Amino acid sequence: MSCVIPCVGDPAYACPVSSLLRIVRFTRSLAPLYTAVIVCSVLTAAAGLAVPFLIGNATDTVAGAVEGRTAAGTAVRAVVLIAAGVLIAELFSTVVSNVGGWFGDVMSNRMRTILSVRYYDKLLHLPQRWFDGEVTGTIVARLNRSITEITNFVKMMSNSFASMLITTAAVLAISAWYAWPLTLLLLIVFPVYVWLTSLTSVKWQRLEGEKNEQVDIASGRFAEVVGQIRVVKSFVRERGELEDFSRRFRSTDATTREQSSHWHRMDVIRRAFLNIIFFAIYAIIFVRTVQGAFSLGEMVLLVQLMTMAKAPVESMSFVIDSAQRAIAGSKDYFRVMETPVDPRTAAVMAARPSDAADAGHAAGTDAADEVPASAVPTAHVDPIPGAPVVAFRSVDFAYEDGEDVLHAIDFQVDRGEKIALVGESGGGKSTIVNLLLGLYEPRTGSVEVVGHPSSDLPLDQLRSRIGVVFQDASLFSGTIRENIAYGRPEASDAEVIEAARRANADAFILRFPDGYEQVIGERGLKLSGGQRQRIAVARAILKDAPVLVLDEATSALDTKAEIQVQKGLDELMDGRTSLIIAHRLSTIAEVDRIVTLRDGHIDEIGSPAELADSGGIYAQLLDLQSSGDSRRLAKFDITG
Ligand SMILES: Nc1ncnc2c1ncn2[C@@H]1O[C@H](COP(=O)(O)OP(=O)(O)O)[C@@H](O)[C@H]1O
Ligand SMILES: [Mg+2]
Repeated sequence: MSCVIPCVGDPAYACPVSSLLRIVRFTRSLAPLYTAVIVCSVLTAAAGLAVPFLIGNATDTVAGAVEGRTAAGTAVRAVVLIAAGVLIAELFSTVVSNVGGWFGDVMSNRMRTILSVRYYDKLLHLPQRWFDGEVTGTIVARLNRSITEITNFVKMMSNSFASMLITTAAVLAISAWYAWPLTLLLLIVFPVYVWLTSLTSVKWQRLEGEKNEQVDIASGRFAEVVGQIRVVKSFVRERGELEDFSRRFRSTDATTREQSSHWHRMDVIRRAFLNIIFFAIYAIIFVRTVQGAFSLGEMVLLVQLMTMAKAPVESMSFVIDSAQRAIAGSKDYFRVMETPVDPRTAAVMAARPSDAADAGHAAGTDAADEVPASAVPTAHVDPIPGAPVVAFRSVDFAYEDGEDVLHAIDFQVDRGEKIALVGESGGGKSTIVNLLLGLYEPRTGSVEVVGHPSSDLPLDQLRSRIGVVFQDASLFSGTIRENIAYGRPEASDAEVIEAARRANADAFILRFPDGYEQVIGERGLKLSGGQRQRIAVARAILKDAPVLVLDEATSALDTKAEIQVQKGLDELMDGRTSLIIAHRLSTIAEVDRIVTLRDGHIDEIGSPAELADSGGIYAQLLDLQSSGDSRRLAKFDITG
């Protein structure tokens, strides 16, 4: 009985028992609550077992009075006392089962907290590459289902399993005392019933997996559509999106039909088997009573006990059903939990313990993704004097196996230098920023920061050196103030306002009714593109990092706003090492050196004056600009 579902069948399915044990191990901090729930259910079961004895006793007393063996008055007193005993047992069971219910609620909520926090913790540790391949809504849907099903199962188990066990054991022992053939029959029932149920399990799980996949994909799309509803509306794609959604959900109907008919067919077989065994059991009890082996009271006792034994067998299929869901859910859950974390992120998170650690130790230290600590830099690294602030050394890089996006990239940025990256759209400019931030590792070669390979720097040290304004402003729901202060939540109001002023955002912020407390909607949707970009610039200004990276930071601004923001940026870049991906030639003209990219290769490196005459990309761009060919300029992400 320790193994509810024997490990049968398809090797593609991990042993269910080990999945379940893993959940228990994962939440072992809940052991006191599990114990409380189990103790309550054992007490409830014990109280329940008293009732058939009392009723049996009452039956004998009644029979004695009817047959005239006992005086009516004595019998009445006795049966009233027995009824009071039943009342006490049932009241006790009512109270204790409710106390158990309370523990169960608390336990399952704590469990949900642990599982959710650890999942989120894990996600935050995963490398950028993992996220590139996932759809947000799908991750969320999978998480919700997994956790609900695991939690429901554990609650049900601790609520009913212990009492089922104790009831069954007691019934077996008592029936063995009265008539061993009854015990024998009961002993046959359990294993056969479990075996029949487990036969159902493999197919059931496969179909459940298919359904979940469709639902998760639909939910992922759902979240994307809601997030980008403007695009959906503008292309009048509502009907198409709805049809796709409903097609996926409808496909689960057919799967459910197959799954359910399989389950119910099997249920007919196992229940019929149960009915036959119980036919034999009742026949034995009745015949033996007629033959005088049992008194009426004993017969009533045995009938009730057998009925009690039937309940655990029948509820076994519910336990197994919910176990199957939990196993399917825990597989999804643990598949994510087993994904190797980005060890450098893990090291940073581990060095900064938080409240989350309370709800389960950090995912980064889970046995499944142990990384040798020595491989991960955590100690502060001092800059090497005189070394370039940023250097790319023969870097080749591919997002996906096969196609390299960057080839032999080799350049450096000295302290205080301003470098511009110019190249065709899709040429790899933003990719260089991603590598610099350590979001991806080069395939060959290395990225060096302050003289050290960037992989030797703890990530927080690396990233705190770099202030970046991304191509898409990437804001959060919440207030303007929270967004500007995202990197430094402790910043004073004066600092936030100063950063906004330098980003030329102050004026428009103050026009909002709530000013800096204005709520800006998901991803800042209530702001214009230019406003979002200025908030993002203010966010980078407030971070005040020694290296500034601007990836088309002002592309969404109109010329007038851009000139103003540029003023703030120029001031910010003063004395700072900067890497600029500009979309306006006028900005590029001011830098110290330009690096031009062609098809992921470096084409030229030189000062604007040198490159203006070299006939390379920059010279061509200048020509295009003077001839007013904005269409071909746009290929280089450049406007006039
Ligand atoms: N996360 C990603 N996964 C796979 N390919 C990517 C990813 N991001 C960008 N790419 C590809 O890498 C190339 C360079 O992109 P990017 O560096 O963004 O160009 P840009 O110079 O316009 O900033 C493009 O061909 C793009 O399709
Ligand atoms: Mg780009």
